[in-house]
Amino acid sequence: MRMIFIGPPGAGKGTQAARLVERYNIPHISTGDMFRAAVKAGTALGKKAQEYMSAGQLVPDEVTIGLVRERLTQSDCSDGFMLDGFPRTRPQAEALEIALEASHIQLDAVLVLEVADELIVSRIVGRRSDPETGEIYHLQFQPPPADIVSRLVHRKDDTEEACRSRLAAYHAQTAPIIPFYDDRNLVRRVDGVGELDNITDRITSALS
Ligand code: AP5
Ligand code: MG
Repeated sequence: MRMIFIGPPGAGKGTQAARLVERYNIPHISTGDMFRAAVKAGTALGKKAQEYMSAGQLVPDEVTIGLVRERLTQSDCSDGFMLDGFPRTRPQAEALEIALEASHIQLDAVLVLEVADELIVSRIVGRRSDPETGEIYHLQFQPPPADIVSRLVHRKDDTEEACRSRLAAYHAQTAPIIPFYDDRNLVRRVDGVGELDNITDRITSALS
């Protein structure tokens, strides 16, 4: 399975990807997670990405494209991959297509997880993640066990203000690439509202 997850911030891409990679036994490649790891490690890439991320803007294409191209050459991607949060712009989509064609690899699906804007802010501001396990929680919708609450992390870009910028970036730059994949007959749209298990079922049937 070679697939792309597209959806607004807080749509549940990371939550659902964690469930699906076990099922399909493929790596989950989240550019957001890669940038956050680089910020945490204090690398040159992290320093470059940080200012864009905290403002809720996209990191420049030339940085992002190189990062993903390199990641896809690693051996764990040879039987499939799940891209989460990439591509997010038309140049990224075109660069990915060129890279995959050069390796004679075809995409199987582009999964668009749909959640209305008015539900997004509350999902984002209530999100917490566990740095030890990577598990994603929500203070209200996916409450964490009480004994781990003190170690949970609140993302810097999970403020209401940054969330609104991220939503604007999604509508201006990312949603317009969906027709690019519609033209290639790859798009599967899935309703991202409801119980997590139901959404996982909707995704697996959309992919089958
Ligand atoms: P990234 O990390 O990709 O953030 P995002 O796209 O904004 O998406 P999120 O991770 O916020 O949401 P998600 O869909 O994964 O939702 P989650 O499952 O966590 O990117 C961050 C930044 O990095 C970007 O802003 C940009 O600066 C940069 N960047 C990354 N990729 C880039 C690229 N390609 N080009 C340029 N820049 C790039 O769920 C959210 C919350 O909702 C959780 O609390 C969860 O518990 C809850 N939840 C999940 N499902 C449900 C449900 N069904 N009902 C109720 N609550 C739910
Ligand atoms: Mg995510």
